[in-house]
Amino acid sequence: MKIIDGKETAKTIKQEIAKEVSAMIDNDDKTPHLAAILVGDDPASQTYVSAKEKACKEVGFVSSIYRLPAGSSEKKVLEVVSFLNHDDEVDGFIVQLPLPDHIDENKIIQHIKPSKDIDGFHPVNIGRMTLNLPSYISATPFGILQLIERYKIETEGKRVVVMGRSHIVGSPMSILLSRKTYPGNATVTLCHSRTKNLKQIAKSADILIVAMGKQGFVTADMIQDDAVVIDVGIHRIPSDKTKSGFRLVGDVDFDNVSRKVSYITPVPGGVGPMTIVSLLMNTLKAAKNEIYSMPE
Ligand code: GUN
Repeated sequence: MKIIDGKETAKTIKQEIAKEVSAMIDNDDKTPHLAAILVGDDPASQTYVSAKEKACKEVGFVSSIYRLPAGSSEKKVLEVVSFLNHDDEVDGFIVQLPLPDHIDENKIIQHIKPSKDIDGFHPVNIGRMTLNLPSYISATPFGILQLIERYKIETEGKRVVVMGRSHIVGSPMSILLSRKTYPGNATVTLCHSRTKNLKQIAKSADILIVAMGKQGFVTADMIQDDAVVIDVGIHRIPSDKTKSGFRLVGDVDFDNVSRKVSYITPVPGGVGPMTIVSLLMNTLKAAKNEIYSMPE
C-alpha cells in the first residue's frame, strides 16, 4: 500500500510555481495577482480565504481581499465582480462560497468573466472542460488530477467509480476521467444518494473517488483488492489524543480500507492540501494567458 502524499506534492508544486514567478519577475513580466471577494463573516470562509492569502505569499503572488458585510446587496456584490472583471492588475479572482442566503450564487458566478474565473465555476469553463478545450478546472478535481498524474496512476481502460455528484467535485471528476486525454480514458460510473447496489458498484472500481460528505462511509468490504482510493471527505471528530480535542477524518474508513488498496489518500494530508495549490496553478495560467489567449 502506498500513501498518496498530498501535503508533499502540494509543497513540490508550490516550489515549482515560486520558481516560475521569480523567472517572470526577472523578465520584467507581471507578478500573478489573485483576488478574493468575501461576503460576511462565516468562520470557515474566513479561514479558507486567509489560507489562500498565505499560499499566495509563499509563491510570490500578489493577493487582495475584498471584504463586504453580510448584509451587502446582490447588486453591490455584482458591482465588485464587475470591478474585478475590468481591473487589469488582477489576473484571476474568486467569490468565496457560500454567500448569504439573500444573494443568488448562480447569478454572481455567471457574472464573473470566464477568463478570470480561476475557480472554474462559470458555465463557460464547465462547458469548455467538458469539451476538453482549455479551461480552468475547479480546485478539488484539478488537485485530484495532479495527484493521479504525479503518482503515475494508470487510468486508461480502468473502471472508475465516483461517489457524489456535486457540481464542484463528483460531476466534474466523472467528466474529466472520461475525456480522451490522460488522466482519462477511463470507464466512469457516477454514484449518488439514489444509487442502487452502491456496495457492489464500489467493489468493481479500480479507482474509487469518494466525495459523499459522509464520515467513514466507505468500508473495507466495499473495496476491490489493490484499488486506488481517493478520499475527498473531511470531518472534524472529537478526540482525546489531540491538543485541540478534535481530529480530521474522511469519508473512508482509512485504517481498514488502507490494508487492501494499492494507493490511498489520507485525511488530512491527501486531497485537501492540493486544492489551494490548484487555485495557484490556475492563477499562474491566468497571468500567462494560457487558457484564454483569444479575445473574448
Ligand atoms: N467554498 C468552499 N470551497 C470553495 C471553493 O473552492 N471556492 C470558493 N469560491 N468557495 C468555496
